[in-house]
Amino acid sequence: MAKKQAVLVVDFGNSETRAIVLCKKDKKLKERKFTVSNRFAEVDNGFIPDEDYSDDTSMVFNIDTKIGDKNIVGTYVSGEVQEREFSTSFIRPTAQEAKYTAKSTVLSYTKAIFKAYEALADIYSVDKDKLDVEWTVVVLLPPGDIEKGKAKMAELLQNINKIDCTFPQFNKDISLKSVAVFPEGFCAYIGTVFERGVTPRAEFVDTLKETVLVLDIGAGTTDMLIVKDNRVINNSLYSIKQGGNNIVQTLNSSFMRKGVELLESDLEKAVVTGFVKVGAGVEDVSDTICKAKRAVAGIISNKIKTFLETSEYPLNSINKLLVCGGGAMQSENEKITSLSKVLVEQLKGVAPSIELLSTPVQENIVVNEVTKEKNIVKSEVSLRELNILGASIFGERFVGE
Ligand SMILES: Nc1ncnc2c1ncn2[C@@H]1O[C@H](COP(=O)(O)OP(=O)(O)OP(=O)(O)O)[C@@H](O)[C@H]1O
Ligand SMILES: [Mg+2]
Repeated sequence: MAKKQAVLVVDFGNSETRAIVLCKKDKKLKERKFTVSNRFAEVDNGFIPDEDYSDDTSMVFNIDTKIGDKNIVGTYVSGEVQEREFSTSFIRPTAQEAKYTAKSTVLSYTKAIFKAYEALADIYSVDKDKLDVEWTVVVLLPPGDIEKGKAKMAELLQNINKIDCTFPQFNKDISLKSVAVFPEGFCAYIGTVFERGVTPRAEFVDTLKETVLVLDIGAGTTDMLIVKDNRVINNSLYSIKQGGNNIVQTLNSSFMRKGVELLESDLEKAVVTGFVKVGAGVEDVSDTICKAKRAVAGIISNKIKTFLETSEYPLNSINKLLVCGGGAMQSENEKITSLSKVLVEQLKGVAPSIELLSTPVQENIVVNEVTKEKNIVKSEVSLRELNILGASIFGERFVGE
């Protein structure tokens, strides 16, 4: 099979790893989107999961690479076998460690590129062992990390030159042509105002002329930047150590004070649903979540106000606000207002004309499982996916036949 030029776009989020594979088939752009868990555990070399585990949901692989001068050598597990058997001592990204020096980035990238081979094998209908691919990798970094982290991130990825997976069995040398690094937040802006082919979306043509304040509310941090004339204003970059996890933590503390210990996964679900299972009962926690959101929004809006006060772009000179990231998402429970709505209300106190940009709508092909009929369904892009969508729009230019 002829060598393929494919692109892997990866968003190493603190909560999960999101990826998009882009390639061309019969001169048409093809894409596959997937999400993988970013939790790993180190195991003994030669570890084999017992037969309860499937290689669709668990993975074991060897790593032999470097981060800067530090050797990273070992065997790691991810997926179901990690969740069930190594749940107490796992490796995951944290807001305290830069993505361009984190071991979790090495592990998440290896897993993502393995999954990317599976995606390409599906697109081209060939066995993944037979694929010969030259990759371009597009990654995101928090805007404030771009300057010091861009070259280090590229080096970290370039150092990983093979996939050595023992469960499922898969070995491949990675041919990596180049690494492109783009700022989170700015990518969300690109994903909002442009569609594939870097074509402005009709409903956002006017936005292209505006000064836009972008807030990316992730798990551990909220990253801010200002976009003017489609470029990032360099001295507008600011990172605030508040995000969706602060809401989860507040909820956790309220139960800890009552002597109730809950699972992190149940607390995360509660933020979305407004309810949590405690013992045999279910408790409505929507009030606690609303209060926590107001508190987090208060800290974020005060920090933004202070930061911009002395800048060239005081808040009252900005009309448009783009809020993205999982922390800003609307909850399933109508009693819980989204953090973006609370924030815009608070910012209006200083900038009365500031308005929240709407979320772009995209078309997805949905196949009816029974009739196999294909339908186009329109839906809003998830606020968690805006960054990777924008990065993949940048990434299109690197796709070869
Ligand atoms: N529907 C929802 N409502 C409220 N919060 C949510 C919702 N879904 C996810 N979250 C919260 O969003 C946060 C994760 O956001 P996101 O996925 O954007 O972060 P990330 O990209 O993984 O991390 P970072 O950008 O900090 O590296 C978590 O704290 C989670 O609790
Ligand atoms: Mg993010």
